[in-house]
Amino acid sequence: MNILVVGSGGREHTFAWKLKQSPLCDQLFIAPGNAGTASCGTNLNIKPTDFEALKNAALEHNIEMIVVGPEDPLVNGIYDYFANQIDTKHIQVIGPSAEAAQLEGSKGYAKAFMKKYNIPTAAYAAFDNTSFEVGVQYIRKHSLPIVLKADGLAAGKGVLICNSHEDALKEFELMIKQSKFGEAGNKVVIEQFLKGIEVSVFVLTNGKEYIILPEAKDYKRIGEGDTGLNTGGMGAISPVPFFNGDLKNKIISKIIEPTINGFQSEQLIYEGFVFIGLMIDNDEPYVIEYNCRMGDPETEVVIPRIKNDLVEIFQAIKKNTLHTIEILTDARTATTTVAVSGGYPEQYTTGELIEGLSDLPNNDCIIFHSGTAKSNEKIITNGGRVLAVTAFGENIPVAKERSSQLLSTIHFNNMYYRSDIGFEFI
Ligand code: AMP
Ligand code: GLY
Repeated sequence: MNILVVGSGGREHTFAWKLKQSPLCDQLFIAPGNAGTASCGTNLNIKPTDFEALKNAALEHNIEMIVVGPEDPLVNGIYDYFANQIDTKHIQVIGPSAEAAQLEGSKGYAKAFMKKYNIPTAAYAAFDNTSFEVGVQYIRKHSLPIVLKADGLAAGKGVLICNSHEDALKEFELMIKQSKFGEAGNKVVIEQFLKGIEVSVFVLTNGKEYIILPEAKDYKRIGEGDTGLNTGGMGAISPVPFFNGDLKNKIISKIIEPTINGFQSEQLIYEGFVFIGLMIDNDEPYVIEYNCRMGDPETEVVIPRIKNDLVEIFQAIKKNTLHTIEILTDARTATTTVAVSGGYPEQYTTGELIEGLSDLPNNDCIIFHSGTAKSNEKIITNGGRVLAVTAFGENIPVAKERSSQLLSTIHFNNMYYRSDIGFEFI
């Protein structure tokens, strides 16, 4: 079959790389893709939220499956758009309906869902302009630190951890009264601070059955030792050393099962990935957030560890045969290190020539492109996050060293990467 991947980052390059290996995949298209995806299939210059153009391309190229990478098109209803039209409803879209995508698109929706289905998460309350004064009182009495979250999508910037009441009150006012995060901050979730260690689990579901994919941990801060500004993600590891059988069983019984049961009770249409961000405190898991898609750069370590045919797994969603699939994982550790443009996550330049991409030392390393483009047959930078270099090894230090080592042979102006991915386990 012909398959279309929607998105343009390292996550989408990883999907394209994996799907291309399936004997079930004939032609592969990526919209809009990057210089890396161009080596797996055909890039189409279409924005992920331009559903009409995606539909025209899908019909023109006889697409039967659409794998959606980022959250925007999902929250904006790409699943429903294809499912509800006579000429496109035969096309399988991997993702949730718009209603179900609110698990990521609205923090208030996600918190109410967790409360209703007794899924462990931080205590919270939600406020908007009509309840602003009540919110102020709530903050005044809240223990420190106080976590403020813009309800809607805010490109990873909508979460603030405030260490004083003054700070929290100021930010609360900026969000509600001054639209600091635009419409996304019209409603604000205020929640208890969770301590512990983070891990992300990934589930593929059809709303009734599910399979669990390898877990991962990402490194969000720009600086070594987890310091400095938050980013989209500077690296990731999989597997995660403390993720043992006992913890996994707890996560299944207290979080995954109630989540899928909740989908059924709410009659949510969900035929895609659920990314569950967890905090583990004293061996107890709490949900920090749901995302309605795979993570980036988590995908760059999770997908390469899966040995199964990804197209077959996706087909099982529609066939109601997910329960028959056994995920076969590479026992080795994978780490990915993200090379970014200097200045990211703030101001940075693009259009820098990338050199050293051609020589792959061995098959323990894969170079995924995040923000790259082709210009006159040369590959140039085209975003904050530029490359994600994934390496396998028998443990984290070996894998990490291989990805750092390969990155040291690649060059572009003002290139920066963390050389301590997985540091707390080394
Ligand atoms: P998000 O934008 O929802 O992914 O949140 C960004 C990061 O903020 C998370 O990965 C956590 O590190 C942190 N965070 C979010 N909520 C909480 C919380 N209730 N307690 C502690 N840290 C949190
Ligand atoms: N790496 C975090 C995310 O994709 O949301």
